[in-house]
Amino acid sequence: MTHEIRVPEPDDFDAFMRPVWRGFADPGPEPDTTEDDRRLWERERSLGVVDGDEWVGGTGAFTMDVTLPGGAVVPAAGVTMIGVAATHRRRGVLTALMARQLDDIAAGGEPIAMLTASESVIYGRFGFGVSTRGVERTVATGHARLRDDAPTAPGRCRQVTLDEARGLLPDAYDRLRATARAGSVRRWDAWWATYLYADWPSRRDGASALFVLVHEDERGEVDGWAAYRIRPSWPDRVPAGSLVVSDIEAVDDAVRLDLYRIVLAHDLVGEVTMLHVPLDDVLVWSVADPRRLRTGNTSDWLWLRLLDVPAALADRRWGGAGGVVVEVVDRFRPASGGTFAIESDADGRGAVTATSAPPDVVLGPEELGALALGGVSASALARAGRVDERRTGALATADALFRVDRDPFCATMF
Ligand SMILES: CC(C)(COP(=O)(O)OP(=O)(O)OC[C@H]1O[C@@H](n2cnc3c(N)ncnc32)[C@H](O)[C@@H]1OP(=O)(O)O)[C@@H](O)C(=O)NCCC(=O)NCCS
Repeated sequence: MTHEIRVPEPDDFDAFMRPVWRGFADPGPEPDTTEDDRRLWERERSLGVVDGDEWVGGTGAFTMDVTLPGGAVVPAAGVTMIGVAATHRRRGVLTALMARQLDDIAAGGEPIAMLTASESVIYGRFGFGVSTRGVERTVATGHARLRDDAPTAPGRCRQVTLDEARGLLPDAYDRLRATARAGSVRRWDAWWATYLYADWPSRRDGASALFVLVHEDERGEVDGWAAYRIRPSWPDRVPAGSLVVSDIEAVDDAVRLDLYRIVLAHDLVGEVTMLHVPLDDVLVWSVADPRRLRTGNTSDWLWLRLLDVPAALADRRWGGAGGVVVEVVDRFRPASGGTFAIESDADGRGAVTATSAPPDVVLGPEELGALALGGVSASALARAGRVDERRTGALATADALFRVDRDPFCATMF
């Protein structure tokens, strides 16, 4: 079946968005949903499929970027607002939109497309791979003491109003990106307004409005924060509320631990949940009673799709000296595939170039997306049958090249 793909006009916003809203269980839609999406919408980057006079599927893109291992930031399209009408599902609408969208993104010069996925079975076929993951951690406040040797940072913590936070956090986030983990992505005005500050009562699920706790360095500059809600509860008149941290950022682990010290010791709260933190978060090795730190769902988060392999990885810092030739077999978008030589010096500075040399390892774009930020090793993927070693020892070299010191992590939903 062929599909007519169109870029929506400004007046098409509601009709274009309807399959997305309905796909996410919001048939109305609610006024707050409409307001959020209108603020975020980059119309010219949106594509929809039209059947007669009905928009039956759509996809959008945000103009973003992503931090590579070593701190370089590379432009990346944040693929978003994807939905197909229930009446038109599984007829190839998304497949047609993806093919066109990836072409458009590549033609516009962004070497990477990325997304956060509603389900983990959808995007591998289009060449997206899981580049960052995160985990939920919960601890009872009565067992949440940090070890005495856990570092503290100079400066102080201060609770601020949401209005103050609006003025402080965006600049602080941009400053913090200099030391951020690989996988950190751009947050822009509409993102902040929508994802952190909108704070719609309908989205609180019975919890409080948003609290923001900031940490300031000795000069008074914000160098970390935690955003959280509290859900009070008084069974038998005993205080047993829960506190849920939805966003925590810090310039270093000492600041992060100072923020944890406050939220983990909150009065009238029985339990604290960090919704999404790195697997190797400093908290794991800083709590005095580690068995009490319960591990919830471990989830895929940022999916990367490399469209121009040399440009995407040009500024990546590699794990050490070495070279490997990688063939990327890209069935969905052959123009993004090919054979590439990765060469690095001992400082991790290197180059990625197209080559006609025989490959040392062969993989698909999904696997390259997973490897790109160092969130998994080539050997681990090979053990799962997803990377093919063609020269003995090549997997070990690839492991050393892609290795990173800290797990990649993305804290941003989009
Ligand atoms: C996800 C969604 C956009 C897929 O659209 P679609 O037009 O039905 O997808 P396609 O017909 O192009 O499917 C292509 C392939 O992916 C598979 N696929 C797509 N969505 C899938 C899903 N949710 N679960 C399992 N398989 C899925 C199809 O079975 C098909 O496989 P095949 O090529 O082997 O036949 C649609 O189901 C939807 O709107 N879901 C609700 C909203 C949502 O989750 N959006 C994604 C936001 S990140």
